[in-house]
Amino acid sequence: MSKHRIAVIAGDGIGQEVMPEGIRVLEAAASKFNIPLQFDRFDFSSCDYFEKHGKMLPDDWKAQIDGHDAIYFGAVGWPDKVPDHVSLWGSLLLFRREFDQYVNVRPAKLMPGVTAPVVRRDGSPREPGEIDMVIVRENTEGEYSSIGGRMYPGTEREIVVQETVMSRIGVDRVLRYAFEVARSRPRKHLTSATKSNGIAITMPYWDERVAEMAKQYPDVKVDKFHIDILTAHFVQRPDFFDVVVGSNLFGDILSDLGPACTGTIGIAPSANLNPTRQHPSLFEPVHGSAPDIAGKGLANPIGQIWCGAMMLDHLGHRDAHDAVMRAIESVLQPGSGAPRTPDLGGTASTADVGLAIAQALKF
Ligand code: NAD
Ligand code: IPM
Ligand code: MN
Repeated sequence: MSKHRIAVIAGDGIGQEVMPEGIRVLEAAASKFNIPLQFDRFDFSSCDYFEKHGKMLPDDWKAQIDGHDAIYFGAVGWPDKVPDHVSLWGSLLLFRREFDQYVNVRPAKLMPGVTAPVVRRDGSPREPGEIDMVIVRENTEGEYSSIGGRMYPGTEREIVVQETVMSRIGVDRVLRYAFEVARSRPRKHLTSATKSNGIAITMPYWDERVAEMAKQYPDVKVDKFHIDILTAHFVQRPDFFDVVVGSNLFGDILSDLGPACTGTIGIAPSANLNPTRQHPSLFEPVHGSAPDIAGKGLANPIGQIWCGAMMLDHLGHRDAHDAVMRAIESVLQPGSGAPRTPDLGGTASTADVGLAIAQALKF
């Protein structure tokens, strides 16, 4: 089997703490399933690198990273050192665009042993698996556009404009991906996030493309909700959702809300995919660098570990993916006595949880 070359970028804050645990578990999976993994570590795409070099990335970053089979990414951002829009547009958002990672797949699932803060209408707790959705986020255009600017700066006539861009190719390709995911799941249900009542040019276009695409997927049940009521439905009936597709911004918001409904954003993974495989895809937890808990060993590493499992799947190792997921579930299992981090009500450290999952993988 040829070697998989993984570019490792830990980034800032808890990215530096959860990454070693992600690698620990990947190494355990690689040894169990005899998968040749090579990790190439990069210190750029961090605010420390910016402080030294005045930029987030070296000029030849693309040549250094392209050619890897995948990117395993932690989190970027340290607003006290570098403004967020500078650090993120100088790294993560650039990777997504330059590597054409146009789909962002973000599962949100209620795991065994985790209490969902959102209870049923009768007040009873939700069961594991009762919340099980995949958010498919458009990842290279939409509201995250660099078209716009500031006019008459510093005057009372100051105006700022930022355009939302939706191209037919851009919208259709992410919708097609989402419909395919919906078709592959037992419930075959796709929900589209819209706001075509208020955002009266781009969002009606999004709805129009959803309706057009739906004609090719008569087996998929499709519905749509405006983003405002959709967030309310996530809280009040999260079990209703199967696959949810949204524009870049709506997908971003829903993919923090979905995992929060399943207990913690600390376990949520994401896969920034280039489905054509012309460039590497990027696997990262949904959460950020969490400056409030960084450096204390309190971060939950499960988001980092779960997206490592998604990376193994992407590299063709479904069995290793399934084994990592079973190991995560066994550690979360109620009564397992396994360590858990404070976001899940425990007192364990990031490394305790990483070790327990790597250990569980051996059996
Ligand atoms: P955040 O996700 O970093 O943190 C939000 C809250 O969730 C914090 O209270 C934090 O302690 C908690 N949290 C996050 N991850 C956790 C984990 N693994 N275990 C336990 N608790 C966890 O969001 P933020 O505070 O809005 O952003 C902080 C910085 O990270 C900013 O610079 C932001 O731009 C950046 N950010 C980066 C990414 C990324 O690189 N993909 C994603 C989101 C935010
Ligand atoms: C995410 C993050 C990023 C985004 C930020 C850090 C630019 O919130 O990956 O969800 O908005 O896409
Ligand atoms: Mn986000």
